[in-house]
Amino acid sequence: MFSRILITSGPTIEPVDPVRFLSNRSSGRSGYHLAMEARTRDLGPVTFVTGPTVWIPEGVEVVRVETALEMRAAVNEHVRQADVIIMAAAVSDYRSVKYYPEKMKKSGERLTLELVKNPDILLEAGRSKRRGQLLVGFAAETEDIFANAQKKLQAKNLDLLVLNEISEANPAFGCAENQVFLVRPDGVQKLEKTSKALLAARIWDEIIALAGHFAPGNEKRP
Ligand code: C5P
Repeated sequence: MFSRILITSGPTIEPVDPVRFLSNRSSGRSGYHLAMEARTRDLGPVTFVTGPTVWIPEGVEVVRVETALEMRAAVNEHVRQADVIIMAAAVSDYRSVKYYPEKMKKSGERLTLELVKNPDILLEAGRSKRRGQLLVGFAAETEDIFANAQKKLQAKNLDLLVLNEISEANPAFGCAENQVFLVRPDGVQKLEKTSKALLAARIWDEIIALAGHFAPGNEKRP
């Protein structure tokens, strides 16, 4: 059905010294289930670019990376061939300005680490998006979730945004279950809390419907 599906998954880790890094609580489960669902439905060849995680799908091309810069390089290498791009990775927003080649010694009561922003891989994919490419992003919001989601959808030139409302009742990160909203430019749909495996199936239903909408010959094709 698709000529190439590109999925990013998991956290990135940003080294500070040989034994320490900055990262986040992403388990990589959502990306894993999206890749497995694509495989089960035989939707097309999958390239899976992943940060360090135990959730590695079988039967797909796996590109392992650690840092955001490595993830960006891997995405740049594969993005042009893809007609569906799903960025489920929790990319570290910042990395340490400096890598300390020797283990940092503890000294004073306080320590300041200077950070620099990582590139936004999804934003770059949105800027270079070509006709016929479907771009799906994830977002985790805690306030003004729908306004922020619509802004993100526009700013990153996305066709679909999977929105997590992060709260005590729905931590999302690291859990087997999740409750999300599917946000499109023309509306929002709530998906009830369920396993990330079933959510992956629902997300693919939506992507397939969008692909039909964009199919050649359809007047509304972007
Ligand atoms: O802007 P925000 O980080 O909330 O956007 C989340 C979405 O953007 C996710 O799809 C994530 O994979 C992607 N992202 C990215 N590169 C970054 C930050 C986020 O690809 N540096």
